[in-house]
Amino acid sequence: MKFSIITLFPNIIETYLSESIIKKAIETKKITVEILDLRAFTTLPHGQVDDYQFGGGKGMVLMCEPVVNAINSVKTQDSFVVLTSPQGKTWDQAQARTFSQTKKHLIIICGHYEGFDSRILNYVDCEISIGDYVLTGGELASLIMLDSIARVVDGVIKAESHLNESFENNLLDYDVYTKPVEFDGHVVPDVLLSGHHQNIDHFRETSKIKNTLQKRPDLIDTTTMSPVQLDILKKLKGE
Ligand SMILES: C[S@@+](CC[C@H](N)C(=O)[O-])C[C@H]1O[C@@H](n2cnc3c(N)ncnc32)[C@H](O)[C@@H]1O
Repeated sequence: MKFSIITLFPNIIETYLSESIIKKAIETKKITVEILDLRAFTTLPHGQVDDYQFGGGKGMVLMCEPVVNAINSVKTQDSFVVLTSPQGKTWDQAQARTFSQTKKHLIIICGHYEGFDSRILNYVDCEISIGDYVLTGGELASLIMLDSIARVVDGVIKAESHLNESFENNLLDYDVYTKPVEFDGHVVPDVLLSGHHQNIDHFRETSKIKNTLQKRPDLIDTTTMSPVQLDILKKLKGE
C-alpha cells in the first residue's frame, strides 16, 4: 500500500517514519510512503501557499492551487484523497482495517493555520478527523492514520497480535502481565501461570468483556458475541 502525504512540514513526518515498526514496514516494502512538500507546488514567489481570508478574520488560509497541484502530481486511478480536518468523520480501528484492505494509494493532505480554502473539498474523497479537538496542523492526524492502517497491513506485524486487540469484535483487549510474578504486593493471576490453555483462554475472554463493560460499555454489541461470551457477560452483570 502506498501513502502520499502532502505537508508544509516534511520533517515531522520523516522523523516518525524513521523509527520502529513503521520504519521496518517501509524497509521491507510492506508500505511505501512519499512526502510532498506543499511549498514545491506553488507558482507564487517565496513558496507562498496561504493568504488572508476573504471577508476578513484571523488566520491564514491554504490556497487551492498548490494543494490541487500536489494532489494531481501523484493521483492515479487507484488513489483515494483524504483531507485531515476536525470537521471530518472520526477515525477508528474499523476504518483503519477497511482502508488497509480496500485502498491501494492514500493521498493525505495536512492542513495548517486556519485551514483550507473550502473549494479544496471538490478534490478530496473524504475528510477525516482524529477526534473532537483542534490541532495546529494535520501532520499528527496523517501519521495516526498511516500508523493505524500500516500495522494491520499483511505482514507488518503478526496477525494474531492485532486480531484480538482492542476494538476488534467490539471489545477491548484483555489484561496482560510480565515478570516479576509479584510486584509491590500485586500478583499475576494464578491461572496465567497454570499452563492450562483452556482456562487461560477463558480468563482472557472474561478479561476482555470485563474491561469493555467497565471502561467502554458503549462498545458492547451482543449481536456480535459468541454464546460463550454472552454467558460470561451475563455472569459479570450478575444476571
Ligand atoms: C487549526 S486547524 C484548522 C481548524 C479549522 N479552522 C476548524 O475549526 O475547523 C489546522 C489544520 O489542522 C488539522 N487538524 C486540526 N485538528 C484536527 C483533527 N481533530 N483531526 C484531523 N486534523 C486536524 C487540519 O489539517 C486543519 O486544517
